[in-house]
Amino acid sequence: MTIIAVDGPAASGKGTIARALARHYGLPCLDTGLLYRAVGLSVLKAGGDPDHEADALAACDFDAPLLDDPALRSEAVGSLASRVSVHPGVRQALVQRQRDFATQPGGAILDGRDIGTVIAPDADAKIFVTASVHVRARRRYDDALAHGGHPDMDSLIADIQARDTRDMSRDHAPLRMADGADLLDTSDLTIEAAIRQAIALVDAQL
Ligand code: C5P
Repeated sequence: MTIIAVDGPAASGKGTIARALARHYGLPCLDTGLLYRAVGLSVLKAGGDPDHEADALAACDFDAPLLDDPALRSEAVGSLASRVSVHPGVRQALVQRQRDFATQPGGAILDGRDIGTVIAPDADAKIFVTASVHVRARRRYDDALAHGGHPDMDSLIADIQARDTRDMSRDHAPLRMADGADLLDTSDLTIEAAIRQAIALVDAQL
């Protein structure tokens, strides 16, 4: 059983890298951010307050089809996810689901913020994917343009900085590089080069 942990901040490229690793190693992949996004969206739909732990907890037993809702991908829901994810009860409610996925026969790849530190500290390989705030905002900008949006660079930078600060400074499972993880900075890399480097780092750890 091979477990690979991929962590990093918003728009670092960790999702793209995790999916590429999943194809390369023939492993199933879980984007754990989607679980927190689903909780955030459920709170919104229920008219609750994402900063209120009881409201966020009530949203944790969402139905599985919600994970396919395209609305989960928006920056607004990402920000809601970041707010509900500070509550220890919410994190606890989602732990078992993630560990069950990680420990399935054959292994798995999970990407998120606390995979290498909390969910699977004994993972066989761990990488921490990062990129500068400007590069990450630029990726969001290009993505929004490609989807017909009218993005504003300054507000994208502010959103990413706010999300980084919240994710890194929370008391429970803050975003940080896990012991034994290798750092992969994708700021100056093409997607192809980032994937090649990720495979080389994982191969060296396995
Ligand atoms: O990765 P993504 O941007 O989809 O994650 C949305 C938010 O969910 C993050 O900003 C973070 O606050 C939270 N999250 C988390 N732990 C994870 C994955 C996501 O706290 N393992």
